[in-house]
Amino acid sequence: MHFKTALAMAIAATAFFSCNSRPDLVKDNIANAEIQIGSLLEASEEGDTIRIPSSYQNGEIVYVPTDDWVSGFFAGTLWYMYELTGDEYWAEHAQKHTEVLDSIQYLTWHHDVGFMIYDSYGNGLRLKNIDGYKDVCINTAKSLSTRFRPGAGVLQSWNVDRGWQSERGWKCPVIIDNMMNLELLFKATEFTGDPTYANIAISHADKTLENHFRPDWSCYHVVDYDPETGEVRRKCTAQGYADESAWARGQAWALYGYAVAYRFTGDKKYLDLSEHVAGYLFNSPTMPEDLVPYWDFNAPGIPDEPRDASSAAIIASGLYELYHFTGKEDYKSKADRILESLSTPAYRAEPGTNGGFILMHSVGSIPHGSSIDVPLNYADYYFLEALVRKTNIENGLPPVK
Ligand code: GLY
Repeated sequence: MHFKTALAMAIAATAFFSCNSRPDLVKDNIANAEIQIGSLLEASEEGDTIRIPSSYQNGEIVYVPTDDWVSGFFAGTLWYMYELTGDEYWAEHAQKHTEVLDSIQYLTWHHDVGFMIYDSYGNGLRLKNIDGYKDVCINTAKSLSTRFRPGAGVLQSWNVDRGWQSERGWKCPVIIDNMMNLELLFKATEFTGDPTYANIAISHADKTLENHFRPDWSCYHVVDYDPETGEVRRKCTAQGYADESAWARGQAWALYGYAVAYRFTGDKKYLDLSEHVAGYLFNSPTMPEDLVPYWDFNAPGIPDEPRDASSAAIIASGLYELYHFTGKEDYKSKADRILESLSTPAYRAEPGTNGGFILMHSVGSIPHGSSIDVPLNYADYYFLEALVRKTNIENGLPPVK
């Protein structure tokens, strides 16, 4: 559907909802997303040129190259628009935005290819079974597997010979975010029957469980290993407030990532861990009432610290999966509460503003001075994913189809 048609429909929908005290949260968000993502899509395509929008800052849409860790989220957002609406318009554009990432299947210099390819090609494969997409996922799993360090039993997240990472004295840094790249490996084993990929994922999840978590179930951002011996050299942060603090998005990746590990293995210790992380989050004295976390649970200036809508969206999506596995209503009601908060004007941009992104108020990295209190494409991606999962659950289906 063209975005101007969507605009007309959304205006009609707004009029309809204004007569009702409690509009349907999912429908209302779809109508809003059709306008926002529709305009972002129009801005990102110029003839045959496809650009990848990642944020909106200082009045300009920020575009990223294909090798950036966030490059798969916009394609994934378009796939979720297709899943939420059934409108082929979104699938057609999702396919174009997916296929600009073709070369990433061979990228081996960082670990984020799981995010990049599974959110784009993985969703395309799941929803449309497009020829060749499975091979891209398998090739990417092979590329990611080159980062496995058998001596330590982990995938190395970042290289240490370039950028700011080269200045930290690390040998084999593993960040909690890396849990999110394991889904691609589990899928590659499903696709090929070769257990190597899943075995790497399990080894990584086990080592992370052993070394990343504190007694209160909060987690470190970075654990640095000796890649030969597996000795833990240091536990620290890169994007959090302090080495001993709980960086919000890291906690969100942990909750979500271990729920995924449980989905593929049925190993109860992963489910328990994901639940422990949820327990930490919701018992934290600094978790705000609207359940949209500050960027770090130990940020010194709370309550005058930026919130991170991206963490909230990731947590909501992960909680729907936890609800599915445990049947605990509290997880669903907390996820619903997060989506309700994110759907208010405090976080959701007015149609026609925010460069076309849905959510405002996310944080990239405060220590790096980058992307602070801005829209981020992964906040929108996980917000739409959470809406898909909520819809599936409320239709009596598993959240992840
Ligand atoms: N994976 C990087 C981040 O969460 O900012």
